[in-house]
Amino acid sequence: MRQLEGKSAMITAAASGIGRATAITLAKRGASVMLADIALGAAEAVAAEIRSEGGVAEAIHCDIGEEAQIKAAIDATVSTFGKIDILHNNAALLDPEVFAEDVDITTISTEAWDRTMQVTLRGTMLGCKYAVIEMKKTGGGSIVNTSSMYGVSAFYRQSAYGVAKGAIITLTEYVATSFGRDNIRCNAIAPSMIRTPILAEIIPEALIKLNEDSVLLPFLGEPQDMANVVAFLASEEARYLTGLVIKADGGSTSHLATYADARRFYDGA
Ligand SMILES: NC(=O)c1ccc[n+]([C@@H]2O[C@H](COP(=O)([O-])OP(=O)(O)OC[C@H]3O[C@@H](n4cnc5c(N)ncnc54)[C@H](O)[C@@H]3O)[C@@H](O)[C@H]2O)c1
Repeated sequence: MRQLEGKSAMITAAASGIGRATAITLAKRGASVMLADIALGAAEAVAAEIRSEGGVAEAIHCDIGEEAQIKAAIDATVSTFGKIDILHNNAALLDPEVFAEDVDITTISTEAWDRTMQVTLRGTMLGCKYAVIEMKKTGGGSIVNTSSMYGVSAFYRQSAYGVAKGAIITLTEYVATSFGRDNIRCNAIAPSMIRTPILAEIIPEALIKLNEDSVLLPFLGEPQDMANVVAFLASEEARYLTGLVIKADGGSTSHLATYADARRFYDGA
């Protein structure tokens, strides 16, 4: 399966979790990949792993809270691989301290709210902006933004994170609308809880179990499940798909709130 042969891709938050799995998957399918992350050492280690498997990969330090660093990472992708065809705009503010105060709009400081919007929403917008500028020069491309099920429906907590992820869905539609005639597609994935390193750090295990209960399938999704969807959206097979949010959530947001209780009522499990 080398359907991304000749393509050049940049992935943000590529050192871990969903971004790491996407970088490895895109490379396996033939794309040259630029791994952008604030954790440069870890991103370099993933790039080395990809190269050891015969893939083409480089890493760059990039904090998506900083406009100049986003532009520099896109520029580096273009100067290293000649162009950018694919952007997986995947990074977000995942700061445990901000998450702790991001309970509701009365508990979060204005500074933490602004920081969430600056990194998660503005950073995603700027990734789109600088990628679009380059993609227009080479006849098009595919952008995949990482939203969240918290952006599809409201969770009980994490208002700022959820609002930023919801706005990413609207941003995706606007980018798709503005640049569709430039042959630039823009879609989003909205993952449910996926077992990545950050999950154990910011979500109590009991809450992870509650989420598992609401998944329609008998398992919790893994980073590879997200990477497969991103690789498909990035490919020519998805050439007629744009402006979509793919709820990559095992059906978590597709049912009534009573689903898990009803399952226990009827099946006892
Ligand atoms: N894991 C889940 O359950 C889940 C669910 C829905 C959405 N998401 C989203 O998926 C994306 C990836 O999350 P993950 O679970 O793979 O996390 P992860 O912790 O496994 O990886 C996150 C990576 O992002 C990097 N990073 C953090 N801040 C950054 C910044 N400002 N600029 C660039 N890189 C930065 C970290 O260094 C790390 O390598 C995020 O947008 C997250 O909101 C995750």
